[in-house]
Amino acid sequence: MTQNIYHKPVLVPETLEGLDVQPGGRYIDGTLGEGGHSEAILLSSNPGGQVLGIDADHEAVHIAKNRLEKFDDAFIAINDKFSQMRNIASELNFIPVHGVLLDLGISSLQLDYEKKGFSFKHSAPLDMRFNSEQDITANQIINTYPVELLSDIIFKYGEEPFSRRIARAIVKNRPINDSSKLAQIIVEAVKHRIRRHHPATQTFQAIRIAVNNELQELESTLKQAISVIGLGGKLAVISYHSLEDRIVKKFFQEQSSKCICAIEIMECICDHSPTIQIITKKPITPTNQEKTLNSRSRSAKLRIAERI
Ligand SMILES: C[S@@+](CC[C@H](N)C(=O)[O-])C[C@H]1O[C@@H](n2cnc3c(N)ncnc32)[C@H](O)[C@@H]1O
Repeated sequence: MTQNIYHKPVLVPETLEGLDVQPGGRYIDGTLGEGGHSEAILLSSNPGGQVLGIDADHEAVHIAKNRLEKFDDAFIAINDKFSQMRNIASELNFIPVHGVLLDLGISSLQLDYEKKGFSFKHSAPLDMRFNSEQDITANQIINTYPVELLSDIIFKYGEEPFSRRIARAIVKNRPINDSSKLAQIIVEAVKHRIRRHHPATQTFQAIRIAVNNELQELESTLKQAISVIGLGGKLAVISYHSLEDRIVKKFFQEQSSKCICAIEIMECICDHSPTIQIITKKPITPTNQEKTLNSRSRSAKLRIAERI
């Protein structure tokens, strides 16, 4: 397998710098994917560095294992959800670590993997699961959810202003078993509206987020990540849309603040101690050169915090 067929990792130098990768350091890559970031971390932490890579997608783990087998015992790959991070690290005696990376969302290989139906550009079964053993699929959501619930999902997770119209069109055209048919129905439903992106972009994002429970996974994992990082270690999170970035930003703000009482409480009663210090007051974004070379990087935002 040649290098250029892998997913192209984004913000690599910025991530290595943000994680302050050092020889002999120990890191968790919670979104291993095809191992691009892990490889960069392993090279920079040599000699003596170690990476524990986790990914929910069995196929991605298989590819990463092959790609990174040259690092022998310095690299461990686990096929699981990143919300299992603390349990996995604890079982492997991999706590504390010097840094944790989450590079959220989907890889370009997954997007192009026609059997999964992540993309509206191919004709594929409506699956959209990172983990193929999980029960719920996009097909179930599209073909069985009531119109109100479908509309809520498309609005909440896709920030789609025409969610009701799209949900109604989906329900009317059931059964829908194919990603390109779904895309066609969405295009038809919003055809007179002016759009910056392909009209199906936000609905496909919404269904994928719902299938994989992505936002809840992220919320529950950020806390765990802090708990496995040693003092002075770093947490780096790369997000690709505002829903993810909002969660990361809010978490960083809460965890770095001395008081997390509700705004209407006049005198602090929470006794909260900050667990992190924010390193990136504003998120780091790719250079114009990276955006040109890798269009997927365009929406990337990297936030870094230090465990204190
Ligand atoms: C943007 S890709 C990561 C690419 C990787 N950094 C690389 O360089 O190849 C995101 C990865 O996160 C995985 N993923 C998403 N949500 C996950 C979760 N809750 N648990 C584990 N893996 C997850 C996806 O399967 C995908 O492989």
